[in-house]
Amino acid sequence: MTVSKPGLVILTGAGISAESGIRTFRSSNGLWEEHRIEDVATPMGFKRDPHLVQRFYNERRKQLSQTLPNTAHHALVELERAWPGSFLLVTQNVDDLHDRAGSQSMLHMHGELLKVRCVSCDTVSRWETDVLPDSQCPACKAADKLRPHIVWFGETPLDMEIIYRSLETCDYFAAIGTSGHVYPAAGFVQCVGSDCHTTEINLEPSVVNSAFKECRHGPATETVPAWVREMLSRR
Ligand code: OAD
Repeated sequence: MTVSKPGLVILTGAGISAESGIRTFRSSNGLWEEHRIEDVATPMGFKRDPHLVQRFYNERRKQLSQTLPNTAHHALVELERAWPGSFLLVTQNVDDLHDRAGSQSMLHMHGELLKVRCVSCDTVSRWETDVLPDSQCPACKAADKLRPHIVWFGETPLDMEIIYRSLETCDYFAAIGTSGHVYPAAGFVQCVGSDCHTTEINLEPSVVNSAFKECRHGPATETVPAWVREMLSRR
């Protein structure tokens, strides 16, 4: 007799990092850390004022060094380690809190704050300090060619093929701390099979909450560890 191993896909958004001290995107009238999203999170914004955009992400990198993963990030690591089937964590977050907590099977679909991409040779490099006008690409040594390795509005998210393949075959899908405003992530709940159990875990109902079979509302540091305990007791 073969025992089927349940597949689990988890999508996270800014809400899971909120209690670590990183502000969510839509918490203050569309302003993100006092900037319009169009100015700091679009290719046009970067073309218009690259120095403003670099300063903005330099600040975000600095802020990241003062934060720590919270109990929700840690609970997902515990779940990954004990889960008997396939496991994939897809995060929209560009912070490294899942990485620091110890998540392994994880994709950063919107890029990573601690990486830069050279617009000249396309190499992606780890970058933990400020990007300055004379910063050189570690691979091709070109100066002033580095951009944040962030998927901006109008650009294609990363690893979509792997993500869609996992969604099509998973038995459980959970979306944690995401408002459901940004596609394609907001549409993942529609990509799973009809037998898949779907759970939304968010501070409040997201704009796509009616697409989920189950919704749990409250702060991630409480709701996520409780949900993980239940998932593990179901094994
Ligand atoms: P949003 O800021 O749109 O939504 C965050 C969600 O988290 C909201 O629904 C909040 O209610 C919820 N939330 C806040 N605090 C919470 C807490 N303590 N516990 C649980 N939930 C909490 O962020 P995202 O949905 O992640 O894209 O935004 C998606 C994308 O839009 C981002 O990845 C970013 C942004 O523009 C790029 O940078 C490309």
